[in-house]
Amino acid sequence: MSISSEQALISAARAAAAHAYAPYSRFIVGAAVLTAEGTIHAGCNVENASYGLTICAERNAIFQAVAHHAGVPRLVAVAIYTPTPLPTAPCGACRQVINEFGPDALVISVCDGPSEIRTSLDHLLPHAFGPEYRSS
Ligand code: THU
Repeated sequence: MSISSEQALISAARAAAAHAYAPYSRFIVGAAVLTAEGTIHAGCNVENASYGLTICAERNAIFQAVAHHAGVPRLVAVAIYTPTPLPTAPCGACRQVINEFGPDALVISVCDGPSEIRTSLDHLLPHAFGPEYRSS
């Protein structure tokens, strides 16, 4: 991935965070995904009074990609932004959903502090269960 597309991806994650609906946790998250074609889709976390219905920013972004892509999207990178001192790693559920569409994805998490996470989905979710296990 080029430096400019990485910067665009991170910018999209930052912009999406401004739309977060997180009145319960007050933990703001923005995420963006880059498809193999070079398209960026973004999402934020959306909470609910029935707390368990909350959707994370990463899954929101991935579902946007699926909804707007002709055919199944291939994710090459996922960026996460939180306005926190430390970067946020994707939760287990989001790792599983990233695996469905981007088992080789680069995962970058940035924040308001100097540190960042830069790793692969394979590192975050080794030996993942994925679509290759389908029986038919
Ligand atoms: N959250 C995300 O959106 N992504 C993450 O990677 C971690 C957690 C959200 C879910 C919930 O709205 C809030 O952050 C606190 O868990």
